[in-house]
Amino acid sequence: MPEIASQIESTAKIVARHWPVVPQVGVILGTGLGSLAEQIAIETTLDYADLPLFSGEMAAGHRGRLVCGQLEGVPLIAFQGRFHLYQGCSPQQAALPVRLMQQLGVETLIILNAAGGLNPAYAVGDVMLIEDQINFMFANPLVGVNDEQLGPRFPDMSQPYSLRLAKVAISVARREGFRLHQGVYASMLGPTYETRAEYRMLRRLGADAVGMSTVPEVLAARHAGMRVLGLSIITNIGLPDALSETTGHDVVVAAEAAVEKLKPIVRGVVGSL
Ligand code: HPA
Repeated sequence: MPEIASQIESTAKIVARHWPVVPQVGVILGTGLGSLAEQIAIETTLDYADLPLFSGEMAAGHRGRLVCGQLEGVPLIAFQGRFHLYQGCSPQQAALPVRLMQQLGVETLIILNAAGGLNPAYAVGDVMLIEDQINFMFANPLVGVNDEQLGPRFPDMSQPYSLRLAKVAISVARREGFRLHQGVYASMLGPTYETRAEYRMLRRLGADAVGMSTVPEVLAARHAGMRVLGLSIITNIGLPDALSETTGHDVVVAAEAAVEKLKPIVRGVVGSL
């Protein structure tokens, strides 16, 4: 961990050289959700290829770019592209965007993803506010020597997602006239989608949606003391008794179709800070 901290420090210096601003908010844009960055008044963009720790293969639907600018007058950085464990990344690598945010001074993380719906009330294109999470990756970015400067050895997880930010998100969705589900997000390693038996198990164990990201980043963000808002777009339905095939392409297309719902929420939450 101390080694990662020094690499992050030099990466943060590169960002600060191009954009000498302290961002208040960091956003991680999920699969097919990169177009959310269009609402930002962009001041600088940096390709991951120009950031030593961030170069590498990007997953489908991810662009690999850091967008720096303002939204609702609030300085913000958005990561168009994240690192997944299924790509062979370690949980520590998956948490790099959050560590960079921490180094730059970010206090609020907005994290977005595409997920399979397990709750029978959910439909493709719905949005779920993540109210809690289950780590089925059985990996944690905080394993190893703890760097006390980054956060405590044993971080509390009794309320990983901010209730205050959740309330703002719910009121924006109400105003915009769409239903915002609230549920539990379970993370799986992937890259396979789940079998019927796995979808059934996840539902029985209390999950409302399942995906292959987010949990490592949120663990690091809570370690860093950030407040977190998480939103999932339901891109496919994982009902074990009525399961149809899912492809990565279907997931990207469904996420792109539903992105308009996320825009007012992100804007409203950032504007409330
Ligand atoms: N399972 C896991 N990850 C996903 C899914 C799913 O059904 N849909 C989108 N990401």
